[in-house]
Amino acid sequence: MTTDTPAQIEALLAENRTYPPAKAFTEQANINDPKVYAEADADYLAFWEKAAENIDWFQRWDRVLDWDCPWAKWYVNAQLNASYNCLDRHLAKNGNKRALIWEGEPGDTRTLTYADMAREVQRFANGLKSIGVQKGDRVAIYMGMVPELPIAMLACARLGAPHSVVFGGFSPDSLADRINDAQAKVLITQDGSWRRGSIVPLKQNADAAVANTPSIEKVVVYQRVGEKANIQWNADRDIWWHDLVAGQSDQCPAEPVDSEHMLYILYTSGTTGKPKGIVHTTGGYMVGTNITSKWVFDLKDTDLYWCTADIGWVTGHSYVVYGPMSNGVTQLMYEGAPDTPDKDRFWDLIEKHGVTILYTAPTSIRQFMKWGTEYPEKHDLSSLRLLGTVGEPINPEAWVWYNEVIGHGKSPIVDTWWQTETGAIMITPLPGVTTTVPGSATVPFPGVFAQIVDDQGNAVPTGKASGYLTLTRPWPSMFRTIFNDPDRYVQTYWSKFPGKYFTGDGAKQLENGYYAIIGRVDDVLNVAGHRIGTWEVESALVDSGDVAEAAVVGLDDVIKGQSIAAFVTLKPGVEADEQERTKLKQHVVKKIGAIARPEQIIFTADLPKTRSAKIMRRLLRDIAQGRVLGDTTTLADPAVVNELKQKYESMGATE
Ligand code: PRX
Repeated sequence: MTTDTPAQIEALLAENRTYPPAKAFTEQANINDPKVYAEADADYLAFWEKAAENIDWFQRWDRVLDWDCPWAKWYVNAQLNASYNCLDRHLAKNGNKRALIWEGEPGDTRTLTYADMAREVQRFANGLKSIGVQKGDRVAIYMGMVPELPIAMLACARLGAPHSVVFGGFSPDSLADRINDAQAKVLITQDGSWRRGSIVPLKQNADAAVANTPSIEKVVVYQRVGEKANIQWNADRDIWWHDLVAGQSDQCPAEPVDSEHMLYILYTSGTTGKPKGIVHTTGGYMVGTNITSKWVFDLKDTDLYWCTADIGWVTGHSYVVYGPMSNGVTQLMYEGAPDTPDKDRFWDLIEKHGVTILYTAPTSIRQFMKWGTEYPEKHDLSSLRLLGTVGEPINPEAWVWYNEVIGHGKSPIVDTWWQTETGAIMITPLPGVTTTVPGSATVPFPGVFAQIVDDQGNAVPTGKASGYLTLTRPWPSMFRTIFNDPDRYVQTYWSKFPGKYFTGDGAKQLENGYYAIIGRVDDVLNVAGHRIGTWEVESALVDSGDVAEAAVVGLDDVIKGQSIAAFVTLKPGVEADEQERTKLKQHVVKKIGAIARPEQIIFTADLPKTRSAKIMRRLLRDIAQGRVLGDTTTLADPAVVNELKQKYESMGATE
């Protein structure tokens, strides 16, 4: 592991531009008094108890927290239902309020009120019941960005059936692995989804996956694309969504579940092994996502909120579905690509609907910068009043561009640090309180406690060296375990620094105590804000049959933050040529999905290793980054790596 500070963070540490909240914003902000921090510090359980008042409970808790590190129970013995909190409780006052304004990529639109959502969710929940889904059963969901995706999730939550949403860009193999790990009983998918004018063949992929998933009894298929989607039908197993809900009652009472009942599993990449099934439970997760939505995004009844994340990732779970909907907000949901039909689609949507809050990823911002200011400048973006980012470190240059070109200097920016595991935002400005610094996520949310530590677990003093980012106290929306693998939960997150949660990120505190997140310090890559384990890509390469050994590292990428470089040793007799490169890249896409496609494949006779046969990734990163050998194309000569290997081994390198 390394916590080397990249140049980008050095630039941030020299950053002296500060952006205090504007008076006009502060005056209207949901939170504008900094005393919330001191109050939460003084008694964090009292803080989280008060936060829980924003959720409707069927039965109140006996205690706020039972903590037997690393095992947490929040709001002990309380009962609630997540779907009830996102829907039913809004109906009396806000039934006719718009919940979702949806835009399909081809330009079709739909609007669903909270009453519409409640009706559709209940009909679909009854449909799921009719095919045998019961409390506790896992339901896999593999869909595009259509309203039926949150409807399906909320229907599962209504029954107490944990959902496992798999991002629609994942391959059939990835889908099958996740279904098998969760032992899901039903898969919900759609015929196809629109992306950049093409059809994403979700049903075809689902068919290929389900061929290897014995636990799946039924596949529910939502019809989005129609005849253009070239699909096969298995009459014993497949059922159209519209047939399933036909004739179903729109009354399906929300099942009261225990606070610690599993709400969902979401798979994410780790350092080694297959993706981990991150388990979130109901009570604490709802409290955490609800209050962070309200405080960080300053949600008001009049807002039109837009989080551009795909619901297949945690950002969509927490900040499209559970956080915003439990706040009864009106939101925009968009199906397709930001450059379809042209590179101004986002700005067009913001102007058309009057979006007030935009939450997106640094990768997208850097892409927009590259496309040029003429695209946002074509549109009236004056409705925007708050901007957010998530998923990866944002470089100050992109932050300032976002502020000036999109926010016209009048919208605070909330750079929010968190993870699939944390469930909700952990380090973030509060827009009516915090003076922001470009590139820094600033300070922990009230009631959250972070600490940067060195290798021995000792706190690193503020303004000094970088170190490992840990969280020192439990928080309500924390994941509770890894599905079916509690040992891995303990090992991965709670063993390196006993008593503290290890995030896997490196960080540094600025002189004023603000946090600068450096990024992953383990073998997890962050490509365009998507987490990918080096091990997953390496196994996909080896799986091709042509590869004897592979090592994958991340390269700095000006748009995507990181891209993937693979060092590959081919089996004897396999030609190291351009054709083989293409073949291997395609194989990775087939095994994992397009997000994992290696940018570079470097053939080498050998990989540099330590005496204990550990691949020297740091060296490979240097080589791939051109820091050791200059132009990486020189690496086509395998002798170069051999030479390095000898050189480094003779130096007794131990990484
Ligand atoms: O490295 C951090 C980075 O994204 C990782 C978590 O990825 P994932 O579980 O997929 O969740 C992404 C969306 C919450 C973290 O370990 N990360 C996330 N937000 C930020 C960030 N890095 C820097 N700044 C952020 N605001």
